[in-house]
Amino acid sequence: MAASTSHSFCSSLAIVVLAVLVIFTGSSSALSKNHYSKSCPKVFTAVQSVVQSAISKQPRQGASLIRLFFHDCFVNGCDGSVLLDDTSSFTGEKTAGPNNGSLRAFEVVDDIKSKVEKECPGVVSCADILAIAARDSVEILGGPSWDVKLGRRDSKTASLSAANSGVIPPPTSTLSNLISRFQAKGLSTKDMVALSGAHTIGKARCVVFRDHIYNDSNIDSSFAKTRQNKCPRTTGLPGDNKIAPLDLQTPTTFDNYYFKNLISQKGLLHSDQELFNGGSTDSLVKTYSQDVKTFYSDFVKAMIKMGDINPLTGSSGEIRKNCRKVNN
Ligand code: HEM
Ligand SMILES: *[C@@H]1O[C@H](CO)[C@@H](O)[C@H](O)[C@H]1NC(C)=O
Ligand SMILES: *[C@@H]1O[C@H](CO)[C@@H](O)[C@H](O)[C@H]1NC(C)=O
Repeated sequence: MAASTSHSFCSSLAIVVLAVLVIFTGSSSALSKNHYSKSCPKVFTAVQSVVQSAISKQPRQGASLIRLFFHDCFVNGCDGSVLLDDTSSFTGEKTAGPNNGSLRAFEVVDDIKSKVEKECPGVVSCADILAIAARDSVEILGGPSWDVKLGRRDSKTASLSAANSGVIPPPTSTLSNLISRFQAKGLSTKDMVALSGAHTIGKARCVVFRDHIYNDSNIDSSFAKTRQNKCPRTTGLPGDNKIAPLDLQTPTTFDNYYFKNLISQKGLLHSDQELFNGGSTDSLVKTYSQDVKTFYSDFVKAMIKMGDINPLTGSSGEIRKNCRKVNN
C-alpha cells in the first residue's frame, strides 16, 4: 500500500516535471502575448493612440515604424538596439549604410515611450514598443491585425559594424541574396516574399532606385520614365534624396498592390522586381497579387517569426526609460 502510494506520487511528480520541461523548452520562444496583462494592461491603448495620431498627421509614419521593427530585428535580434543614439562608448546603428538618412519615426517612438512610461513606469521595453507599433501601423493602414508576442528586453549597446555587416539586404540584391539573408535569420523564402509586401506602403529615395530605373531592362518603360522625371541620372545631392512611393497605386494602404505592380514590372527597387523576374518566387508573387487573404495570413505569420529573432529575456538587457539611451 505504502509502496504503491509512493510509486504513484513519483509518477505524478515525473509527469509534472516533464510537463514543465515541455512548456519551457518546447515553446518556440520565451515571448507571450500576455506578458503585460498584469503589469501594464493599458500598453495597447497607449501605443495605439500615439500611432493613430502620428499616421493621421502623416500616413508615411506607419511605414517608417514597420521598417524600424525590421531593421531592429535583423541586427542582433529584436532588442531595441536600432533606437540608441551614439555615445562616447559606442557608435550605434543609426548612421549605418541601410539606416543613415533613411530610418525615420524615431520621434514617434519617443512619444509612445513617454505615454507608456506615464501609464506604467519602467515596465515596457522599447523592443516591444516597436513590435506593437508595427502591428498597429499595419492595421491602421488597412491591413491585417494579430496578437503580438511580448517580453523582449532592451539592449545596453548597439553596433554600427553589425548594422553594416550585410545582414540587412541592400536594394541591389539578387533573388538568391534576398533568400539567403532571410534564411540566415531563420526566415523562409515564403516569409521573405510575404514580408516584402510591406513595400505596399512608404517611400524610397532616388539613390536606392536610380540604377533600377535607368539601367535595368525588366521594368515597364513608361513607369521608368515617370520615375526618371523626379530622379536625376547624376548622383549627388539634392537629387539623391528625391522620394517616390514604393507602391505607385495605393502608397498609404496596406493591400496587395505591391505584388500586382511586380507582375506588371512596376517594382521600384531592383530587389523588389527580383521577386518576379522568372525565378522561383514568381508563383508566390502571383498568388499574393490575386489573393489578398493569403498574403495577409502569410504576412502575419512572418511578422510573428521575425519578432522572435534573438530577443533578450529573463535578466538579460534592461527596460530602458528612454529609448535613445541606456539607463544609468
Ligand atoms: C527584402 C529585402 C528588403 C530590401 C532590399 C528593402 C529595401 C528597402 C529600401 C532600399 C527602402 C527605401 C529606403 C530609403 O530610400 O531611404 C525600403 C523602405 C521600406 N521598407 Fe524595405 N526592404 C526589404 C524588406 C523589408 C521588410 C521585411 C520590411 C518590413 C516588414 C520592409 C519595410 C519597408 C518600409 C515600410 C519602407 C518604407 C519606409 C518609409 O517610408 O519610411 N522592407 N526598403
Ligand atoms: C550620414 O548622412 C549625413 C547626411 O545625411 C552625412 O553627412 C554623413 O556623413 C552620413 N554618415 C555616414 C556615416 O555615412
Ligand atoms: C548604369 O550602368 C552604367 C554602366 O554599367 C554605369 O556606369 C552607371 O553608373 C549605372 N547607373 C546609372 C544610374 O546610369
